[in-house]
Amino acid sequence: MKGLVVLVTLACFASAQHQALIDYLERRLLAIEDRISLWHEQTTRYASELRELKQQMVSQLESLDKEKEALRLNLDSVGTRVDRVERELDYLETQNGAQPCVDVDDKLIEQQVTLVKEKQKTKYLKLTDCSDMISNIKAMKILKRVGGPKGMWTKDTSKASGKVYIFNGTAEDTIYEFATVQDFTRSTGMSLSTNLKLPSAWKGTGHVVHNNHVYYISQAEEISVVKYDMGTNSVTDSAVFPVQDHVPVYSLTPETLMDLAVDEEGLWAIYATKQNERHISLAKMDAKSLDIEQMWDTNCPRENAEAAFVICGTLYVVYNTKQPGRSRLQCVFDVNDMVTNEDAPLVYFPKRYGSHSSLKYNPQEQLLYAWDDGYQILYKLLMKKKLEI
Ligand SMILES: *[C@@H]1O[C@H](CO)[C@@H](O)[C@H](O)[C@H]1NC(C)=O
Repeated sequence: MKGLVVLVTLACFASAQHQALIDYLERRLLAIEDRISLWHEQTTRYASELRELKQQMVSQLESLDKEKEALRLNLDSVGTRVDRVERELDYLETQNGAQPCVDVDDKLIEQQVTLVKEKQKTKYLKLTDCSDMISNIKAMKILKRVGGPKGMWTKDTSKASGKVYIFNGTAEDTIYEFATVQDFTRSTGMSLSTNLKLPSAWKGTGHVVHNNHVYYISQAEEISVVKYDMGTNSVTDSAVFPVQDHVPVYSLTPETLMDLAVDEEGLWAIYATKQNERHISLAKMDAKSLDIEQMWDTNCPRENAEAAFVICGTLYVVYNTKQPGRSRLQCVFDVNDMVTNEDAPLVYFPKRYGSHSSLKYNPQEQLLYAWDDGYQILYKLLMKKKLEI
């Protein structure tokens, strides 16, 4: 009996101990579960952060790829440009003539170097203080109709002379000279004129008469400006125009390879080359020596241009349409940067028959001598000061 009591007591004690152990273990388990769920939370957070990071990396890689592609394209276009420049250089070299004799080659190069240096040295200096620009066309007068659809007529642009010259056609060699404008208007056909036969044919309608000299464009192997003295009836000078690959300067007047103009400042050449074939170029020439003093690439397109002229150092380009409509003065280029296209008024010519095959400015009279489908027309210009708006 006594023994049983001890046993029961022992059993009770053991079960109490047991319960305590279980409680303890349960508490530990709860604590561990808490921590596990905490870890779980943390790992999901890390995982999502990692995913975001990965996405960022991917998109950055994509944009890097794009940049690489753009860079490659740029490199390609630079490459083709370098190719083009190289081809142009090759071409220029072949143009300069690879002479078998090295000495000759050297001389050629030396000459060209000095030529270029001289060209850079002599810059065109403004001669007058003229600062007029066109404001409008004040009046027009149709004087006569002689000759074919294309040609040009002009007065001698120097002060003393009143003589009038007719260049009929675009590839002839005989000029008709009239003593005065009155003689020209009174004449039946060319009856009151004197014939003047040039030593070679002219080309196009780009000629001028200045100080009793005819400056005409001729085309043999190359395009040159010939200066012909009407006093002595002889060529006093002739110069190959120093650019390669001429293209006709006005797209609507393709016979005119190059155009000459006289203004208050002297002689100008209006031309175009394959290297800059969308736009018209301008050069100032010395009327005495035919040297080029300076050259400019203008912003005036060749497309749909029919004629141009220069007044006070500003080039005015006249445009039309393929089906001749109203001519309009739509692009200007001022070598002194005083007039921009925005300042220049858009001037329409009074409606006429066809299109102008030439427009020659006379700085003494501020008149334009125009040839429009065989009609000889004078336009009187209304001028204003360049800086007045
Ligand atoms: C003017 O040139 C045209 C051709 O363009 C010709 O038919 C005509 O006979 C010429 N007239 C004179 C007067 O030379």
